[in-house]
Amino acid sequence: MNTEILKAAEFLKKGEIGAIPTETVYGLAGNALNEMAVLKIFEAKNRPFFDPLIVHIAAFNQIEKYVEELPAKAQILAQAFWPGPLTLLLKKKSNIPDLVTAGSDLVAIRIPNHPIPLELLKSIDFPLAAPSANLFGYVSPTEAKHVEQQLGEKISFVLDGGSCEIGLESTIVGFENDKMIVYRVGGISLEELQRIGGEFELNINQSSNPKAPGMLKSHYAPSKKVIFRNWGDYLSNISSENFGIIAFDSAYEFVPTENQRILSPKGDLNEAARNLFSALRSFENSNVKFILAEEFPNEGLGRAINDRLSRASAEL
Ligand code: TXA
Ligand code: MG
Repeated sequence: MNTEILKAAEFLKKGEIGAIPTETVYGLAGNALNEMAVLKIFEAKNRPFFDPLIVHIAAFNQIEKYVEELPAKAQILAQAFWPGPLTLLLKKKSNIPDLVTAGSDLVAIRIPNHPIPLELLKSIDFPLAAPSANLFGYVSPTEAKHVEQQLGEKISFVLDGGSCEIGLESTIVGFENDKMIVYRVGGISLEELQRIGGEFELNINQSSNPKAPGMLKSHYAPSKKVIFRNWGDYLSNISSENFGIIAFDSAYEFVPTENQRILSPKGDLNEAARNLFSALRSFENSNVKFILAEEFPNEGLGRAINDRLSRASAEL
C-alpha cells in the first residue's frame, strides 16, 4: 500500500484528523465512531455543532453496521450511484455518536468514488466522518493546496489526490415513506436522480434556519463579495479593474482577460462545476474588489452551480 495512505491510517487510528481527496471536494476526515476525533474536526473548521457530518464507508455491505433500516428506494439509489457523489440520510444505529449527526436520529452516509479514500477506508475498521476541508462558511477545497493554505497547520496530514473530478459536494437525499426528498443539489443531477429513483421532492433550504443543517443561506463564500444575478446596477457604476467575472462559456469584451474566469469555453456544465470553486478562490489574492457571477443554465450540474453561487452571494 501507498506509504502516505498507511501513515494517514495510523494517524486516524490514533484519533487524529487529516484531509482526504474525494471525487467531489476534499474532506477533513476523522474516526466517525470516536467522539474526540469528531470534536477535533469541528474545532479545526470552526464549525457549529448544529451542522452534522457525512459518514464515509468503503463498501455497501458495511452500511448495516451503522444504519437501522434501508428503504427500498435507498437501496436502488445506492446501487446505481455508489461509489459516487450521493449522500443518503438513513436511520442511524447507536454506535454513530450524536455529535456526528447533531442530535438527529438520521445519519448521512456515502461511499466516495476515489481510489485514495477507498484504499484508506479499507485499511481501517471504522468509517470516516468528513465534512469539506475548509473553514466553516468558506468555499470548499478542490485541490490539496487549498486545504494546506487554510488548515495545514491544524491537521495531521493532507493526502493529495489531484484536482477533484466533480468539484461540487454530493447530492443529499432523504426518504419519507419511500419518497425521495432532495436536501442539497450536488454532484448527481436531479435528472439522473429522477431517471433511477422516479419522483422526488425538493427541500432545499434557502433561509438562515440552522435546523436544516448545512443549508445555511450564506455558505461556500470567498472573502470577496460575490454578486449573483441583478448585476445591472454594478456594471454602470464601476471600473472594469474593480471586479472579477465568473462566466459560463463566453468572455466579456469590456473586462480585462485576467479578471475573467470562463468555466467552460465549450459550454459543458460538468467542466464548469469542476472549475467553479477554484475560480472563486483565484480572486482572493488579486486586487479585484468583488465578483460578478453569471447565472448558469438551470439543468444538470448547472442547478448545483447556481445553488452554490447564490449561497456564496448571500448576506450573513
Ligand atoms: O461531497 C460531499 O458531500 C463532501 C465530501 C467530503 O464527502 N462533504 C461535504 O460535507 O460536503 P459538508 O460537511 O461540507 O456538508 C455536509 C452536509 C451538512 O451541512 C448537512 O447539510 C448534511 O450534509 N448532513 C450531514 N449529516 C446530516 C444529517 N444527519 N441530517 C441532515 N443533514 C445532514
Ligand atoms: Mg462544507
